[in-house]
Amino acid sequence: MKKHRDKPFVHITNWQIENYALEMTSPESASIQELVASSDEELDYIDMLSGNLVAQLLKMLINISGAKRILEIGTFTGYSAVAMAEALPDDGEVITLEMNIRYQDLAEKHFAKYDTAKKITLLKGNAQEIVQELEGDFDLVFIDADKLSYQHYYEHSLPLLKQGGLIVTDNVLWDGTVLEPQDYKAEALHQFNRFVLEDERVEQVLLPIRDGLTLIRKK
Ligand SMILES: C[S@@+](CC[C@H](N)C(=O)[O-])C[C@H]1O[C@@H](n2cnc3c(N)ncnc32)[C@H](O)[C@@H]1O
Repeated sequence: MKKHRDKPFVHITNWQIENYALEMTSPESASIQELVASSDEELDYIDMLSGNLVAQLLKMLINISGAKRILEIGTFTGYSAVAMAEALPDDGEVITLEMNIRYQDLAEKHFAKYDTAKKITLLKGNAQEIVQELEGDFDLVFIDADKLSYQHYYEHSLPLLKQGGLIVTDNVLWDGTVLEPQDYKAEALHQFNRFVLEDERVEQVLLPIRDGLTLIRKK
């Protein structure tokens, strides 16, 4: 794990508390551990990978809600897609979207290795376009791609979601910079968070874990 940074990339939570929370959370499966090691070998940095607190929360949400059909926007090397597939029943499905060719190849290499990944379909291309062509119903949507497009992904995935279904959005605190946005990504995420707050179609809770995760339930 030579290429990991000394401390977590984000610092919303005291990093020692974050490490303790990770220690006391159900561990990653052997497949996921192997996927992390392989991603680490292949890439300079793997900070984009959502990590075990987020993955275990997604798995927990899938298990308690009985979700079967999932849309993921932003695959990277397949970490969260494989984690969610592990929580799904045999007839469950994860459709995951990625436009970067290098990451598509790595994700495909990983998906070919693990039995649970048979439930995953990788759609290659620009998620901003693909999301407009998909058909519902989905039980859960995990939004984790380019931060400037969160509102676009949200608007297009909400109609694809069953009533009572969940949208989970990652990185909504953007390293805490949404408090006083100084750049366009922080500003876009802050505007997105405000938009969801005022959207009467949903109820939501913003959890300050890792880089901030909002659970949004369609009423
Ligand atoms: C934070 S990473 C996803 C991490 C992944 N969910 C995980 O937990 O391992 C975001 C990914 O979204 C991809 N991405 C960014 N913009 C995109 C777009 N417009 N269409 C498709 N993929 C995009 C990036 O290439 C990157 O791999």
